[in-house]
Amino acid sequence: MELKVLESNKIDEEVANEIVTLIKEKPNCVLGLATGSTPLGVYANLVKKYENKEVSFKNVRSFNLDEYVGLKHDNDQSYFYFMHHNLFDHIDINPNNVHVPDGINYENCLKTYDNEIKKAGGIDLQILGIGSNGHIAFNEPGTDFDSFIHLVDLKESTIKDNSRFFSSIEEVPTRAITMGLRSIMQAKRIILIAKGKNKNHAIKALFDEHGIDETLPVSVLKLHPNVEIYCDKDAAEGVIDE
Ligand code: PGA
Repeated sequence: MELKVLESNKIDEEVANEIVTLIKEKPNCVLGLATGSTPLGVYANLVKKYENKEVSFKNVRSFNLDEYVGLKHDNDQSYFYFMHHNLFDHIDINPNNVHVPDGINYENCLKTYDNEIKKAGGIDLQILGIGSNGHIAFNEPGTDFDSFIHLVDLKESTIKDNSRFFSSIEEVPTRAITMGLRSIMQAKRIILIAKGKNKNHAIKALFDEHGIDETLPVSVLKLHPNVEIYCDKDAAEGVIDE
C-alpha cells in the first residue's frame, strides 16, 4: 500500500488526474465509484475537465459500490440520485453504462451485479472512501473477506455518521446493499481516500497496529498488490508509513 499525504484539494486534483489518465489510455475502462462526502471534490474536478474538453466519458463503464435499501431513485439521499446529481448528469457518460446497486429490487441485483462486473472485464480502478469504523463500501466490521454483493444491517456508528445528510437520525435507512470485500479486491487497482480527524483512528489501525482480519474491513487491502491511500493531514496524523 502506498500512502500519500496531501492537502484535501490536491487529493481531489490528483485522483481526478489519475482517472483522466486511465480514460485516455483505455476509453472504455471500468470505474468503480463511491459516494459520501469524500469523493465529491474528485467528481467536481472530473466535471470541470469534461467541460474543458480534456476528457470524454462516452465509452466509460461504471459500477457503484452500494446503495441504501428502500430509497427510490428520486430520493435525494439515494446513492443513485447522488451519483447523477454530482457526476453523471454533468458528463457525457452513456446512462446504459452506469450501474448502481438496486436498493428496491435488490433480489435480482444480488444475483447479477458481480456477474455484470465480470462481463464488463472487471473494474480497472476502484475509488473508495472509508468509514470511521474501518468499513469500506458498507462492509461493516465482521464482514467475511470472501463476500460478494450482499445485504447488510448498518452499524450504529455508520447510521450516526451518515445522519448528517438526513434531517433526523430516524430517517437514515438501517439496511443497505453493498459490493462485498471479495468483489472490491478483484479490482485491478484501488485508490482509497480518507479525509478528516474522524478517519484517523481507522487509518492508524490500518498502518500501525492492526493485523489483517475481519474486525477492520479495510485491512483486507493489505492483501491487494495495487493500492494507493490518499490522506489529508488530519486523517494521517501519527501514521508511520514503513
Ligand atoms: P464519507 O463516508 O465519505 O461521507 O466520510 C465514507 C464511508 O463511509 O465510506
